Amino acid sequence: MSPIDDDGMSRRKFMRQSAVLSLGLAGTPISTLGQQPVDSRTKEGRTLNANSQEMLTRFGLKYPIFQGAPGGEALAVAVANSGAMGAVSLTWDTPEQTFDVVTRMNEATEGNYYANYVLHFEPKSLDRALEAGCPIIQFSWGIPKKYIVAKVRNAGARLGIQVSSKLNAEKAMQLDPDFLICQGLEAGGHVQATLPLADTLQDVLRLAGGTPVLVAGGISTGQDLRLAIESGASGAVLGTRFMATKESDAHDVYKNSLVEANEDSTVYTICFNRDWNAAHRVLRNSTFLDWEAEGCPDTGSKPKEDDVVAEHPVYGKAMRYETVPPMQGHEGALEEMAMYAGQGVGQVNDLPTAGELLERLWREFERS
Ligand SMILES: Cc1cc2nc3c(=O)[nH]c(=O)nc-3n(C[C@H](O)[C@H](O)[C@H](O)COP(=O)(O)O)c2cc1C
Repeated sequence: MSPIDDDGMSRRKFMRQSAVLSLGLAGTPISTLGQQPVDSRTKEGRTLNANSQEMLTRFGLKYPIFQGAPGGEALAVAVANSGAMGAVSLTWDTPEQTFDVVTRMNEATEGNYYANYVLHFEPKSLDRALEAGCPIIQFSWGIPKKYIVAKVRNAGARLGIQVSSKLNAEKAMQLDPDFLICQGLEAGGHVQATLPLADTLQDVLRLAGGTPVLVAGGISTGQDLRLAIESGASGAVLGTRFMATKESDAHDVYKNSLVEANEDSTVYTICFNRDWNAAHRVLRNSTFLDWEAEGCPDTGSKPKEDDVVAEHPVYGKAMRYETVPPMQGHEGALEEMAMYAGQGVGQVNDLPTAGELLERLWREFERS
């Protein structure tokens, strides 16, 4: 498989189509667009759709914003306690670590956070997460089997599923989820989607009916959020934008690279596949450029693939082409590691606290 680089095109396409869609709303029967009627106004006159309102009430949120899974516990707590949906990634935690993370999250928040499991891997710690009282489980990279859904339901937890096509949205809806996340090719990190948001969102919304759908991929500003909501989504998932905050556990080198990047800095690739062979979106860095210059060879023939690029006191050695990004505590050639970023990274220009960021996103949403 050769790397695909669409140079920011999919994000621009979504923004254009969303703008057309929202302009077209006046006088258009909303049901024909698969959208719910707009029935509420913020104090500045900006509208939220009915699904979005309902979602805020159902999940006890102030903002229709979910954090993407990465970033660590401190970020998840800060996001949740500022009125949005926090997130922790539990795919790679042991059952005991998971029990402790969920216990601490329950103590530190009002329960407005979710735990993500990437179903490409066995969700080994799910039982312990549920036992500890995790309020919401969200799966990505696969549709959970019925017995897994039964575990979630029997524990009284809510269920979210990430989809990226009409086909997997149909399958997900058979499981009666509490929300869907529709990921697009614009997203940072590992990208389950093979199509831009603009190509899948309306199909997913139609299939979801009254179930809230959040869009994920390339959303960095309040204006982006407005376009997403005016396209019929109930809210948005922000991954890259939250990585560039004070509380995130990303290394400063990674955070500063996000701030310095522009909208053409990312690439959709399979370069960093040493421990998980899946497509991802990262900043173009020297590891990627050297590999590309050699014709994107397969594992076994990649340039300098036996290099240890960094070390971490807890996570140990990081090899070149490994999936681990530079995190606090890493030392070494950090710029050469995978620095995940979505196509909205050009709008990431500072490192606010999560609370400051949410207030700003909402101001921008209301004024846009
Ligand atoms: C550093 C990083 C790590 C991620 N890790 C996960 C993960 O563990 N599980 C998952 O489902 N998605 C993961 N994602 C994807 C996010 O959940 C989300 O789909 C994506 O960040 C949205 O696009 P954006 O980064 O442009 O906001 C990750 C994204 C980033 C940037």
